[in-house]
Amino acid sequence: MTEPRIGTDVERAVDILRSGGIVGLPTETVYGLGADASNADAVARVFRVKGRPTDHPLIVHVLDVDAARQWSRNWSPEADLLARAFWPGPLTIIVDRAPQVSDAVTGGRDTVALRSPSHPAIRAVLASLGGGIAAPSANRFGKVSPTTARHVLDDLGPDVDYVLDGGPCAIGLESTIVDCSVHPCQILRPGGISESDIRRILDTTAEAHGPSRAPGMLESHYAPDCRVHPVETMERALSLAAELAASDSDSSGPEILDASVDPVRFASTMYARLRDLDRAGRHDVIVVLPDDTGIGKAIRDRIVKASHGNR
Ligand code: TXA
Ligand code: MG
Repeated sequence: MTEPRIGTDVERAVDILRSGGIVGLPTETVYGLGADASNADAVARVFRVKGRPTDHPLIVHVLDVDAARQWSRNWSPEADLLARAFWPGPLTIIVDRAPQVSDAVTGGRDTVALRSPSHPAIRAVLASLGGGIAAPSANRFGKVSPTTARHVLDDLGPDVDYVLDGGPCAIGLESTIVDCSVHPCQILRPGGISESDIRRILDTTAEAHGPSRAPGMLESHYAPDCRVHPVETMERALSLAAELAASDSDSSGPEILDASVDPVRFASTMYARLRDLDRAGRHDVIVVLPDDTGIGKAIRDRIVKASHGNR
């Protein structure tokens, strides 16, 4: 009998990672598809399974600041301030990479993205494995990130060796990314740590302008199969719903999701709800956007990007 590929066995996850396998791992943001970051072949397999271009670098997940320093050549004072304020947690910090960091992880860049996650299950894996875990979100490239162990298996099926089940992700959206390899530091991706949280620690942080420095972040991304329509008010949502219902063959009509009332809670189930709509074969979802503050900024970013995938 084959062993179940989903479960709560931390040591099994560690053994698989040690022998060069790839494992779905829970974090507080979304599930990651992890490989031992020092094993270039295992990292290459993550790219293959995800269908991700090799020049889109991965985040290396570490236990703490001491571990992060081993992956970086120039752990800057700004990186240190941010890490001490927000780690473990949903913040990824980009710094110059140490010479031994493999090109497979960084796509040949001079920098490396580092994050210390807070979910106890991946922390237990990191503590037992030592070193770092390179992990992108555990979805196929361009699709919606997984927020449960079941989502990972639904997406990757037999291509993943094991999925460590840590329950649904508490935050539900990918981490905030801050590039500390440039001055002033730049926020490349909004996420669970807000811009104002970061500015409280670093007063010189700029928002990234012009071509994105994080590859893959300007394209349509995070996209479900159904068409996503962002709107600013419920009033607009209702009138758009009426227009779409009149012209669309989907007899159940468009779904309206209201992200404006409780954005933190909305974020935690947003990807699961988009997946449910896809599974039900729904054509259109209208999302009433939250204010552009706190996690609302991250929701707006993901929903607007998802709408670029509309066919
Ligand atoms: O919450 C998260 O960040 C999740 C969990 C699993 O930790 N991970 C995640 O990974 O969202 P991924 O690979 O889906 O997104 C990482 C982003 C990509 O857009 C990548 O291009 C960017 O980080 N990135 C990674 N290393 C970089 C670097 N050295 N310079 C610029 N961008 C980088
Ligand atoms: Mg991703």
